[in-house]
Amino acid sequence: MTKPAALPRVNTFSSGPCAKRPGWSLKALADAPLGRSHRAKVGKAKLKLAIDLTREVLGVPANYRIGIVPASDTGAVEMAMWSMLGARGVDMLAWESFGEGWVSDVVKQLRLNDVREIKAPYDTKNRDVVFTWNGTTSGVRVPDADWIADDRHGLTICDATSAAFAQALDWTKLDVVTFSWQKVLGGEAAHGMLILSPRAVERLETYKPAWPLPKIFRMTKGGKLIEGIFQGETINTPSMLCVEDYIDALQWAKKVGGLKGLIKRADGNARVLANWVKKTDWIDFLAVKPKTRSNTSVCLKFTDPKVTALPADRQRNSPSPSSRSSRRKARGSISDITAMRRPASGSGVARPFRRATSRR
Ligand SMILES: Cc1ncc(COP(=O)(O)O)c(C=O)c1O
Repeated sequence: MTKPAALPRVNTFSSGPCAKRPGWSLKALADAPLGRSHRAKVGKAKLKLAIDLTREVLGVPANYRIGIVPASDTGAVEMAMWSMLGARGVDMLAWESFGEGWVSDVVKQLRLNDVREIKAPYDTKNRDVVFTWNGTTSGVRVPDADWIADDRHGLTICDATSAAFAQALDWTKLDVVTFSWQKVLGGEAAHGMLILSPRAVERLETYKPAWPLPKIFRMTKGGKLIEGIFQGETINTPSMLCVEDYIDALQWAKKVGGLKGLIKRADGNARVLANWVKKTDWIDFLAVKPKTRSNTSVCLKFTDPKVTALPADRQRNSPSPSSRSSRRKARGSISDITAMRRPASGSGVARPFRRATSRR
């Protein structure tokens, strides 16, 4: 690898934690109610503002609840799965390592009997379905939600963490949507967002799992939804600094054209990479169909015969952007190129090249 002649202005290309918005500085957090209780009027107002802005920017329907919950996107997904699954059979769809993680939790931890781990076909009408909208570690996304039945009886639980704010989510097809702040908008980590359709709320109020639920997963009391959670009364203590940063990101998002503007930016960023891939004969997208290629997390594979002709184990060990000497040469051009613990599998697959949507 030769040392790049031109270095990027911002070299934080990860898709979570993402680059901060253009122009961000610590001054953006000056209005954070530090040292104040999240239950005080000022704290509650900030949390409510974060929820209201999320609704506005993402276009979440008025009858969907939005809650700020503990433990990032993982917390939100686990909360939904442990609270809602088991009422009917569930189809677990996985196209990358995070989706595989949810499958493993449902099979090995929740130990549900009626579980199908599915590539295709799946039953979105009669069963619950758990899936990841954008597979961060494989760079594959669902192009739309047309495959989900409108007249479904089951719930759809969608991990949208690297999709929300960069891809159009079809709310009519989604009952539970989760994401975390450090993803597309470049916020700070720790808190998860949990969005519930009226049907998801109905499940919570009519179904009691056979297993005990820890306090941080509990969304009902006496068979009724704890509405406060969805108005900013968080289950436990949030960081008001992180809340302020999320509000700042949402306000910036509004200024750049809201959801439409954000999607345009993400598509524009992805196009820059796609153009480079097109004119580079030794690399290609892992996702073969353009419609399923992510615009937030790009995974590339080596196609150079010098690499593909090697046995699989040698391909994995051949000099890659993650090798120490390559890293040294590329110094300054990119950070965190080897951040994934469990990248997409397969021979000749470049380490996920995770990138932010907020820079052009
Ligand atoms: C698709 C997907 N799901 C879940 C997670 C975990 O998110 P968090 O660290 O916010 O819990 C990630 C993180 O990269 C992700 O990309």
